[in-house]
Amino acid sequence: MKIGIVGAGMVGSAAGFALVMQGIASEIVLIDLDEKRARAEAEDIAHAVPFASSAVVRAGGYDDLHGAWVVILACGVGQKPGETRLQLLGRNAEVFRSVVGQVLPAAPEAILLVASNPVDIMGQITARIAGLAPGRVIGSGTILDTARFRWLLSRHLGIAPGSVHGYVLGEHGDSEVLAWSNARAGSVPLASFAAQVGAPITEDVRARIDKGVRRAAYTIIEGKGATWYGIGAGLARICRAIGGDEQAVLSVSVPGDVLGVQDVALSLPRVVGAAGVTATLWPELDEAETEGLRASAELLKGLVEAV
Ligand code: 2OP
Repeated sequence: MKIGIVGAGMVGSAAGFALVMQGIASEIVLIDLDEKRARAEAEDIAHAVPFASSAVVRAGGYDDLHGAWVVILACGVGQKPGETRLQLLGRNAEVFRSVVGQVLPAAPEAILLVASNPVDIMGQITARIAGLAPGRVIGSGTILDTARFRWLLSRHLGIAPGSVHGYVLGEHGDSEVLAWSNARAGSVPLASFAAQVGAPITEDVRARIDKGVRRAAYTIIEGKGATWYGIGAGLARICRAIGGDEQAVLSVSVPGDVLGVQDVALSLPRVVGAAGVTATLWPELDEAETEGLRASAELLKGLVEAV
């Protein structure tokens, strides 16, 4: 599977590295306005190939995207310490207007995988510009928040993250909703399993995990300027679902109608395969979660209308 990555900053490069280490891509093309940076990242990632796979990794231009299955859009700016994802909107919308117009003629068959923040709105803008069939423009959405949620729950419960089933829904950002009410350990409802292993989900535990998920990016950005490994792995996971036509259920962002809010992009558990997103699994939520999701949808809708 050939994969293009536009934006050879930390997120794009980490995605390239994750794709190589997991043997997901046969060819990776890194594109950046800063060609020297793209060449350097491509060479550095290529040096990991002998340890993991046989991918060709190179820097290139938009013409080199021909034949790509997926083009990851990780271009634009990231958050500075204290900045919210939404504050990036104006700057990144401008970058995307130029980039998407150059990607489309070169890779008309590709699925566009948007990673730049605010990712839900950037995904929706991309879908509008690209005019591709629904589900062929995917925002990475809350795939990372869901991973953070599962990881924190797994540590609390003492079981593997892969055996914790739960999703973060809505905006990839401050208004996101942790769907506690339908989280499970294996097939057992979370509260029941937590009681069985003597690790109840108290108000304090819930508040700590909520903060650990919702504030994770802020804490990491304070410490090292940006986040990249988690999202890089999340992008590789989505590419694997597409390349393997897995029909995997992942929390990613595509436009649709949500709780009475028309045409808004946010994350719900979606089925992802070679054609992109083909279905949505509507989770059963309690009242507070439903209201939280509606508020998240309304917030995003207001912002996308203003762009
Ligand atoms: C993250 O959540 C900053 O959106 C990025 O790590």
